Amino acid sequence: MRNAALIAPKLRFLYGNGDGKIKITYTQDTENSSITISEEDLETLRGLTFKKVCVKGAGAFVATPVTDGRKYAGKTAIVTGAAQGFGFGIADYLASCGALVVVADMNADGAKTAAETICKKNGVETLAVACDVTKEESVEELIEMTSLKFGGLDVYVNNAGIVRAGSLDEMTLRAFTLVENVNYNAYFLGAKYSQMIMKRQREVAPDRMFDIIEINSKSGLEGSNKNFAYAGSKFGGIGLTQSFALELAPYGIKVNAVCPGNFLDGPLWSDPEKGLFVQYLNAGKVPGAKTVEDVRRFYEAKVPLGRGCRTEDVCLAISYIIDQKYETGQAVPVTGGQVMMR
Ligand SMILES: NC(=O)c1ccc[n+]([C@@H]2O[C@H](COP(=O)([O-])OP(=O)(O)OC[C@H]3O[C@@H](n4cnc5c(N)ncnc54)[C@H](O)[C@@H]3O)[C@@H](O)[C@H]2O)c1
Repeated sequence: MRNAALIAPKLRFLYGNGDGKIKITYTQDTENSSITISEEDLETLRGLTFKKVCVKGAGAFVATPVTDGRKYAGKTAIVTGAAQGFGFGIADYLASCGALVVVADMNADGAKTAAETICKKNGVETLAVACDVTKEESVEELIEMTSLKFGGLDVYVNNAGIVRAGSLDEMTLRAFTLVENVNYNAYFLGAKYSQMIMKRQREVAPDRMFDIIEINSKSGLEGSNKNFAYAGSKFGGIGLTQSFALELAPYGIKVNAVCPGNFLDGPLWSDPEKGLFVQYLNAGKVPGAKTVEDVRRFYEAKVPLGRGCRTEDVCLAISYIIDQKYETGQAVPVTGGQVMMR
């Protein structure tokens, strides 16, 4: 991780009254810096307001106050897999609450369009980053770019995920490994690099708390027939959530998971060509189903509250996780009663 990416998060919380409502942007152009200091002396900036600081050997950092009054104004959030689906909805929600949002997705064009849409709609700055969450250097770069552009990281939403369903007879090692790489290994990478930034912030702002949130699934809470690659990756995600939570609690970093039920209106299910409704209809997975609507009704009937999970349901859970200061290591179900916790 570049040193500048580790300096910016400290500057954000040393600035002014220390509430972090300041954007710190890195530049190599050190001209017109009002202060020049060495990295060891960063603490001497505490309480000061400045336009541009030069840190010897690292570069310069420009401060832009955030004047927005919304509840997450001044927070920076990354959402992975945010070009579409739940990820897009979560990024849009956080931006609607005033957060600076990074839309990260391996679909570079999709990420760019999503970031532009969210920026226009909510009047906040956004950043699109083309990122493959299964590649360590790509995740490190994502976190680094975020810190250099916005000056830190408050919320990391590990959302990118894929499904490859199939029985033991059908599943290949290749498909199984792909699912584990995206849903499970990438969560480790995201947590590894985001906590580096969050810890720096906590060093100078010991009262502040930060969030790592995994978008898990109801399939992380109970087994899923002929869908073990997915369920296994999500069960594993709960183990990581609990373990990261234990490790990071002393640093004020809460780590929680949200476990949504089936997002029946989302592209994964509803895409007219590749969606699960069409796939299940063609595979005869739902006995007696003759149309896509029959398949949909079959899945809706499994939910006590009678409908699929929606983005707004997931965002309410995310809002609870961020707002509360006394819970970590939890898996919050959002399943309409389909899965009930013991
Ligand atoms: N759709 C559901 O019914 C449902 C239910 C419960 C949980 N979830 C979980 O919610 C999350 C989002 O699901 P969704 O249905 O919105 O998915 P989606 O398929 O609509 O979108 C997933 C996004 O992730 C991106 N992505 C895939 N692999 C990536 C990679 N290696 N690097 C970066 N980006 C990558 C895709 O490009 C896409 O934009 C997943 O973790 C999923 O397991 C979904």
